[in-house]
Amino acid sequence: MESRGHWSSRVGFVLAAAGSAIGLGNLWKFPYITWDNSGGAFVLIYLACIAVVGLPIMVCELMIGRMTQKSPVEALREAAGPAWSWIGGAGVLTGFIILGYYIVIAGWTLRYVWQCLVWTINGFDPVQAGGDKFAGEFLTNGPLQVLLTVSFMALTMAVVSRGIGGGIEKAARILMPILLAILALLVVSALTMDGAGEALGFLFTPNFAEVESIAVLEALGHSFFTLSLGMGAMITYGSYLSRKDSVVRSASTVAILDTVIALVACVIMFSVIFSVPEIKEGLSGSKSPVGMLFVTLPTLFYQQVPFGNVLAPLFYLLVAFAALTSTISMLEVVVAYFIDNKGMDRVKATLVGGAGALVISLACAVSLGAMNLPSQVTLPLLAPGKSGVLGVLDHVASNWLLPVGGFFITLAAGWAISRKVSEAELVDENTPGWFKYGVWSFFVRFICPIAVGAIIVAVIVGKDFS
Ligand code: PHE
Repeated sequence: MESRGHWSSRVGFVLAAAGSAIGLGNLWKFPYITWDNSGGAFVLIYLACIAVVGLPIMVCELMIGRMTQKSPVEALREAAGPAWSWIGGAGVLTGFIILGYYIVIAGWTLRYVWQCLVWTINGFDPVQAGGDKFAGEFLTNGPLQVLLTVSFMALTMAVVSRGIGGGIEKAARILMPILLAILALLVVSALTMDGAGEALGFLFTPNFAEVESIAVLEALGHSFFTLSLGMGAMITYGSYLSRKDSVVRSASTVAILDTVIALVACVIMFSVIFSVPEIKEGLSGSKSPVGMLFVTLPTLFYQQVPFGNVLAPLFYLLVAFAALTSTISMLEVVVAYFIDNKGMDRVKATLVGGAGALVISLACAVSLGAMNLPSQVTLPLLAPGKSGVLGVLDHVASNWLLPVGGFFITLAAGWAISRKVSEAELVDENTPGWFKYGVWSFFVRFICPIAVGAIIVAVIVGKDFS
């Protein structure tokens, strides 16, 4: 068996884990669910979910990974007992599912890199950039969707097959600093736009009358999704951490980075939306501004942003990078399982895992309009109002599988692992001064399970099953 890889340093780990956390969840999904849920109040609920549930569970996952140095199934078995190992198995399955649909959207970023290069060279075409073309021509182009999906999976597999230090960490070290620099540049330019004030007001003035109670589940689900929690990705990444690195410090750095980036992405997008009246109208007319990242932003770049025609292709390259560092972590969960539990070598595990997820991806890719049948797929009990393979899988994975996975991970960490063991893992000379073990333990034993459980029950009870 090959020796287990490790991150070369804490910075290497933070970049890789932040790479996992920061992705389409921040740049694509958070802005549109925030828009759908009318801003301010939803943002506050989301921040509360991150602080109360997300961060403590991130600490649980990294701790379980670091203490066992094993992938989720074996890590939970060793840390919490054999009865808990199935949670790791469920996580691997969830990883498969999320990777399956996520990579389809990730593939779109490749098309936008190329499309923006064409616009930069030949001049921008607002009609071609519009929502009608996006929905009517791009999404329905089956061969193109398949090509993009397969290409993105190939990129992901190329990195994962190279292992921890030489593959995943190296990719993160190159991609993440560039991503952060470009986002900083964009937010500065967004803040000078006419709509910036309105955007900040929309985001940071809570009006609780405007959010529906179901939004709490959505905020909770998204806080799991955006921090890559509930499916063992952070257990897996934690298993490559060395004992010198503080779990608490690493977890909080990643959670803060992820949250800041999500808010920055909203500031950028909403500043544009509120600056360009046609875009604002177009968005409120459509069912959900899913195309915000792919329809709104190109127009921003080419019509509003100084040097936009240079920044646009670069920006989509960076969204592609953000998505890539996330798909890498999803595939790594599956691959680590195949290596540890099925005795495969890394290359074989990558091939099997990637090919398996691709089956789901292709079903999603052709269900966007290229083929009629799969768009009929619905799952009224678990994903009411959603249709299409991609929408249903996303809803089920992020609003059910991740919170339920997180629920059991917090029970494992809080109740099945002895306090002596977890305290020894979390409290050492590198632990930041603000961390109080007793507070964390109280959250993980009581607050997190009760909060997650209550939301899940409230949704089940409150749901109209007719
Ligand atoms: N956190 C990633 C994002 O926000 C998605 C993700 C979910 C990655 C689960 C790994 C595991 O895009």
